[in-house]
Amino acid sequence: MKKTIKDFDLKDKTVIIRCDFNVPMKDGEITDDNRIKASLETIEYAIDHGAKLVLMSHLGRIKSEEDKKKNSLEAVALRLSEYLNREVIFCEETHGDLLKDTVKELKAGEVLLMENTRFEDLDGKKESGNDSELGVFWASLGDIFINDAFGTAHRTHASNVGIASHLPSGVGFLIEKELNVMLEAIKNPKRPLTVILGGSKVSDKIGVIENLVNVADHILIGGGMAFTFLKASGLNIGKSLLDEEHLDFCKEMLEKHSDKLVLPIDCVVATEVSEDVNSRTCFINEIKEDELGLDIGHGTVKLFKQYLDDSKTVIWNGPVGVFEMDKFATGTKDLCEIINRENLISIIGGGDTAAAIIKFGYKDKMTHISTGGGASLELLEGKELPGIKCIDEK
Ligand code: 3PG
Repeated sequence: MKKTIKDFDLKDKTVIIRCDFNVPMKDGEITDDNRIKASLETIEYAIDHGAKLVLMSHLGRIKSEEDKKKNSLEAVALRLSEYLNREVIFCEETHGDLLKDTVKELKAGEVLLMENTRFEDLDGKKESGNDSELGVFWASLGDIFINDAFGTAHRTHASNVGIASHLPSGVGFLIEKELNVMLEAIKNPKRPLTVILGGSKVSDKIGVIENLVNVADHILIGGGMAFTFLKASGLNIGKSLLDEEHLDFCKEMLEKHSDKLVLPIDCVVATEVSEDVNSRTCFINEIKEDELGLDIGHGTVKLFKQYLDDSKTVIWNGPVGVFEMDKFATGTKDLCEIINRENLISIIGGGDTAAAIIKFGYKDKMTHISTGGGASLELLEGKELPGIKCIDEK
């Protein structure tokens, strides 16, 4: 068992909390602050227990000075201070004396947010490459390290693994919850357990399929990735997405696990991916050469519903259609409604799936929506996440 924030006496200690404030931004404005909200419980706990807080996070990927301008965490500091109802001191430096001195002057209950950790990537990828000197320097700012950045836990970076190597460490409430909910669902699920997999590429989901096919009672496959499976089962898929390299993998899975894998029986097709193009629903063996599948059809929704209605746990990773366009959003929306019921444990992977659920208004209807896209995927693949592995055991 990993230590948690509750295992430490925080009073008058400088506590570095690694958050995942990698929030979507448009023209300098935060467009979705769920990750900020998800970090509040740990931050408030540390404030209430008399810690001096140094918060760190990355935002975006930094390859140029231009990227730095677009990815400052200043807007996050402002939003955070609104939620915490107190000042959040923003430090523009990610190393150097100003940062050291500002941290030294912190008093119990005060909160500092350091500028984007990935600004250090401009100087030889120091953050993303887990540069040891940078990890030592950041660790020197605090007494205790709490990792609560679940969304970044699949990365080995200086601001998680690097710092944890030099300080007593624990996880925050968000990581604790993410792990408890997801690991319980795959290690000790309330059955039947049904997994919905979508998204465009088979390659992104190979690890998940290989791991969950041994655990789940059913795996329902939609999205662009379904067409490689359909092709592998001998059907003509027209211009639909094909992951040629993984055709053999799909064939093998269909041969070995035909009892568990459920493929679409109909789909919405069009000649291009556009809101303005004519679309039609057809059986899966009726896709024309110039058409591509962009959503599951009503027949497939009905078929999937039979499995979902019978389930006690559902894990969903990947939208089943191009949900960003109204025309191809129905399948994903219908599945949201089907799993919106009491007595069902519904676990939603982060990234696109979370975005779809939130877009369609089901945010508060699900048991758990993960704050990590890549991280939740790796957890479902059965991998140990480096940002969690590095944390002290109890
Ligand atoms: C995410 O949004 O998935 C995490 O914040 C990790 O970001 P990254 O993929 O840029 O490392």
